Amino acid sequence: MKERLIYFDNAATVWPKPESVYKYMDEFFRSHGVNPGRSGYDLAIEAGSLLDRTRQRLTKFFGGDEDAPSRLIFGYNVTDALNLAIPGLVGQGEHIVTTNLEHNSVIRPVNHMVRDHGAEATFVPFNAQGFVEPDAIRKAIRPNTRLIIVNHGSNVIGTVQPVKEIGAICREHGITFVVDTAQTAGVIPINMKEMNIDVLAFTGHKALMGSMGIGGLCVRKHVEIRQIRSGGTGVRSANPYHLEEYPWRLEYGTPNMIGVASLWAGQDWLDEHGVESVHRQEMALAKILVEGLRKIEGVRLYCCDNLDNHLSTILMNLNSVEPGDVGVMLDVDHSIATRTGLHCAPLVHRQLGTEETHGGVRFSVGAFNTEEDVSAAIAAVEEIAKWARERQATKQNRFALVTR
Ligand SMILES: Cc1ncc(COP(=O)(O)O)c(C=O)c1O
Repeated sequence: MKERLIYFDNAATVWPKPESVYKYMDEFFRSHGVNPGRSGYDLAIEAGSLLDRTRQRLTKFFGGDEDAPSRLIFGYNVTDALNLAIPGLVGQGEHIVTTNLEHNSVIRPVNHMVRDHGAEATFVPFNAQGFVEPDAIRKAIRPNTRLIIVNHGSNVIGTVQPVKEIGAICREHGITFVVDTAQTAGVIPINMKEMNIDVLAFTGHKALMGSMGIGGLCVRKHVEIRQIRSGGTGVRSANPYHLEEYPWRLEYGTPNMIGVASLWAGQDWLDEHGVESVHRQEMALAKILVEGLRKIEGVRLYCCDNLDNHLSTILMNLNSVEPGDVGVMLDVDHSIATRTGLHCAPLVHRQLGTEETHGGVRFSVGAFNTEEDVSAAIAAVEEIAKWARERQATKQNRFALVTR
């Protein structure tokens, strides 16, 4: 039987989740698994109350408009949320500025707006350290720029973008600023008002410590997102069209209440442990990892010379070994889970020059990793690197023999 799996794929989804989250989801589903806000009996009202209180709690957590918590809307995940925000904000002939750091959950909806709906888009590159420079965003703005959308924390190289400065540029030009916080919500404190964020997109299953299948948007009061889907809302059923008021404007059908419950319990856990303190602990481990990997001959690290403004997500490659093969060896021989390949962010790899060599190996440290896990990861990469060097030497000797 395999020994314990050492999990370094927290950027894909944080796992495991706190025990208290599992427990609360189970209890809530058993005791309140009815449709919220659709019926007038006590249990449905209680379920609806958790929905409303979670909207309020997350609005506060993100520094949104606390007097308008209905503008915190729930969907399936951040991809779903961005698919409401992007087409709901941009139309034909309008221009979007975004970056090479984006996940496909931004790249593809933006590209569809361009190809299918006559919008225009500019993808701004990041600098050699992995940061998008606010000035580069400023230069990309055109008279018809309607939306700027930026990935707060890269899921590939872990750099955290200067969103406050980018947001200030958006304010100056009256452009709506959307931020994808998939990697940062629950990791670094976010305040939409202070950071000039107009629309924040989040996903529940990462550092918010919730389940898969829940995510959403927090929309500031001065922003209007066009409603593009329609269906049941549980209220004003006689209306032949979808409701314009929030949250219904951007919500459709029965909500994922177990997911909402998971976010509620996730907030309890984050309150208890402290967002900043968990991040400090993760970064301490990431530093040990980077220092250890750096010493291994043949390892190449990307954009982590300085870990300030960085997440605990580290990208590496090993000379002459396919990243996918490194991942398989880490898993099969060492029980270490990483994510290899392009990480749904092909433009990052294209700019780094790693697209042609099939991406990289990503270690993402989470709240439940230990120093022991990190030591095991360094030792495992060391062993694979040694094997790769020996294989390379054998190949060269063989080649020398036939070309002598
Ligand atoms: C930066 C970023 N954006 C978007 C996503 C998509 O998240 P989800 O699959 O929860 O929609 C991810 C997931 O890895 C991500 O890292």
